Amino acid sequence: MSDRRMEQGPPPVHLARVKTTEERPRTAPDVVFDIRELSVIYGDFRAVRDVSLPIAKNEITALIGPSGCGKTTVLRCLNRMNDLIEGARVEGRVLYHGVDLYDARVDPVEVRRRVGMVFQKPNPFPKSVYENVAFGPKIAGFKGDMDGLVEEALRRAALWDEVKDLLKSSAMALSGGQQQRLCIARAIATRPDVILMDEPCSALDPIATLRIEELMQQLLENYTIVIVTHNMQQAARVSHRTAFFTVDVQEAGQRTGTLVEFDRTERMFTNPSEKRTEDYVTGRFG
Ligand SMILES: Nc1ncnc2c1ncn2[C@@H]1O[C@H](COP(=O)(O)OP(=O)(O)OP(=O)(O)O)[C@@H](O)[C@H]1O
Ligand SMILES: [Mg+2]
Repeated sequence: MSDRRMEQGPPPVHLARVKTTEERPRTAPDVVFDIRELSVIYGDFRAVRDVSLPIAKNEITALIGPSGCGKTTVLRCLNRMNDLIEGARVEGRVLYHGVDLYDARVDPVEVRRRVGMVFQKPNPFPKSVYENVAFGPKIAGFKGDMDGLVEEALRRAALWDEVKDLLKSSAMALSGGQQQRLCIARAIATRPDVILMDEPCSALDPIATLRIEELMQQLLENYTIVIVTHNMQQAARVSHRTAFFTVDVQEAGQRTGTLVEFDRTERMFTNPSEKRTEDYVTGRFG
């Protein structure tokens, strides 16, 4: 559904106030997202089919699987980024705290404020460190203590000590690992509920990677994190639950991403139910 259609529709639902909707009892209290029979279609290509999966609050959920199985596609459904892709269509439901994210009354801009995203390649704006963090709150009309907010976000992203004397310097002058933490600070600054991370460490060296992994553990107290990773050790190290996707090839040759198995990470890596999961996590496939 396009953003324009939303504007013409009924007034937006304020997500902070929707927890009493009648759908609420159908979702366990600790579930942030309840993904139900989700399919994503690009034009006439069904990229992902029938994904059902709960995302638990204050946990890290890892999405793993071979290239093209739809990890990024599923992740983008959680903050309606697929709305921005021409020809993309979503079937099924994504409940966020019990509210249908794709309900016509839900404002996609509000969704993206509450559900922030960090991408594979650090993508700071070509502006100062300070302006990168202040950008989101400014757009959202924040009128309070901006210096305090910038500092808090940088502290939470474990970057403050390294950049407190560089706030006016260009973000582009930071190292890759620092840039990625700046992007996390930028996501945090709008006070989100969830942070989506799409291979956030794939452009970083092992030390910067470790730093981000430690940071993720610290962030858990306040946020729910969903991470896509190709790094099995990373999924095993950081996540509480893991969803393994694969690509099913039909007779006619169409390739569709499907969810093979979802469980506690420890079980997925030591005693999965599905042979395909075992083959993937032990490196025999993919
Ligand atoms: N914008 C798009 N338009 C058309 N098809 C797309 C688009 N984005 C992804 N796809 C297709 O959807 C399928 C799933 O892609 P997706 O990027 O979600 O996979 P992925 O699991 O994230 O892969 P990778 O590990 O390589 O990042 C692929 O077949 C891909 O070609
Ligand atoms: Mg991807």
